[in-house]
Amino acid sequence: MCGIACLASPSSGKNCYKALEKLDYRGYDSAGMAGLADGEIEIFKTTGSVKNIEDFAKDFDCPLVIAHTRWATHGGPTKENAHPHLSYDGSLALVHNGIIENYQSLKTSLAECGIGFKSETDSEVVASLIAHESGSPLEKLSKATKRLEGSFALGVLFKEKVILATRRHSPLYIAVTTEGNMIASDVVCFIGLAKEFYALKEGEIAMVTEDKIELYDSQLKKIDISFCELEKDETSISLNGYEYYMEKEINEIPIIMRSFLSRYAKEDLLTPMKKLFEGVDNIALVGCGTAYHACLFGAKVLGERLNMPAHAYIASELKYSRPCFKNTLAILVSQSGETADTLGCVPIFKKLGLKTLAITNTEHSALARECDAYLPVCAGVELAVASTKAYVAQILTLYTLARYLSQEDFDIFSLSHLPEAAERLLGDYSRLASEILPAQRVFFIGRGLDSVTSQEAALKLKEITYKSAEGYPAGELKHGTLALIDKGTPVVVFATNQDLYKKTMANATEVKARGGKVILVAPSNFEKCDCDYFIPLPTLKDEAEYSLVSIIPFQSLAFLVCRALGYNPDKPRNLAKSVTVE
Ligand code: AGP
Repeated sequence: MCGIACLASPSSGKNCYKALEKLDYRGYDSAGMAGLADGEIEIFKTTGSVKNIEDFAKDFDCPLVIAHTRWATHGGPTKENAHPHLSYDGSLALVHNGIIENYQSLKTSLAECGIGFKSETDSEVVASLIAHESGSPLEKLSKATKRLEGSFALGVLFKEKVILATRRHSPLYIAVTTEGNMIASDVVCFIGLAKEFYALKEGEIAMVTEDKIELYDSQLKKIDISFCELEKDETSISLNGYEYYMEKEINEIPIIMRSFLSRYAKEDLLTPMKKLFEGVDNIALVGCGTAYHACLFGAKVLGERLNMPAHAYIASELKYSRPCFKNTLAILVSQSGETADTLGCVPIFKKLGLKTLAITNTEHSALARECDAYLPVCAGVELAVASTKAYVAQILTLYTLARYLSQEDFDIFSLSHLPEAAERLLGDYSRLASEILPAQRVFFIGRGLDSVTSQEAALKLKEITYKSAEGYPAGELKHGTLALIDKGTPVVVFATNQDLYKKTMANATEVKARGGKVILVAPSNFEKCDCDYFIPLPTLKDEAEYSLVSIIPFQSLAFLVCRALGYNPDKPRNLAKSVTVE
């Protein structure tokens, strides 16, 4: 959802480009860079991904540089709409991540003062709004941002030889790195370059020059910066010999399961959960996309094990409904911890007096900071837009939590067999991929937790192959969707629950009778049914454990089909990884 990188150092262009490259996952509609050379602001921008500004950046030796990679919101992915945007008087250039909701009225009032605009963006309005204010760069930025409605992370390069950064809702971090003083949308930019970082708080302003970083509160009072340790190492963001992050991340699933288990064995993360759940009669889980699917899993597993009502909600829907929760614990699930829709639910829960628990892969994220408690999912950096290892880690966290709270003698080592089971599912699915390749639409069905896996498998396939794919509770198919099954339509049938096996097999037979192609996913010790393709699962303890591994073949399948179609799995069209706008 747009990435910002700003750098103050003698060779900023080249190094700022390297930082921006790491933010490519946040949007790849256009990219641009601005720097201060001989007292004048020079800007280069172009359509397409960050790669397209590499040639310009490598020779762009200015001491102060701001850069941007865009996921288009206001105005198409054109060169004019690309960032940085120059203010009407050329006194500053700006990069922005977020959405300014009142930009039309601000634009009208600036136009009344004779100010014209070159782009269709809300961001250009902010650039000119800041320039039009009076005072020092700090005062101008402070006055202008007070007039903004919506969300923003801003990096502003002033002719006064300073870069200012501030934020509301959208993330922004600062660090003193070996390459110079840096501002970025994600700490991944600092990996290998800095040992510590600071997450800007709402309304704070960072002032960055070649020599120093200063921090100001919303009253423009200078305040101390308390840096946090940056733990991630460089291998976490390298491709490690893989061509695509998605493939690397799928293959990391057994590794991240092991790191999850060893961290939860070493650190006492679960004991505080007992207190958090005291007096709780209901559980509400909230997330978006894949994280919402993890919430569906969590609702079933926590609800059944703790014997209490538990429901999953889509964050963007819950936010504008009139929720009526009492004695409810709100669990917010998010890989990035920065998803605007999910974050937007926190104040609603707080207003209702509910306790909040964040389950996130990003421990320094706004979600982890704003909730009463958080549990890390330990998936490591996930860069591919399609979430794979983070989904498995999220459901592993929810499953561990449910087991811990419901089982007196729970021992984390009772989950030690899971990484090996996951490893066994990292197979070669190219034959299956070649069968799916010609299909226009693919269905995934299952009962209970298998219906959740079906929905997640369908999302994976559609988001990177652009094929129509739907996940359904198996029993629902005959209530309408069966009409879409004809000769050769692939239907993936997840059947991991022994008690429901016969019922699910009956649904598979209904598909076969219409000429559909059945791809069965079931434990190898279950009785076989008539199917066209069989994915055997190793024997595990329960339905929830099967969910942790049965998704893996379909993450790989989506990847293989995507590649066979010639698409880039890491950069699906129209999407971006961190959705920091509503
Ligand atoms: C997953 O493959 C998707 N790209 C998307 O649905 C994602 O899970 C969703 O946007 C939520 O993101 P979050 O986990 O960072 O909040």
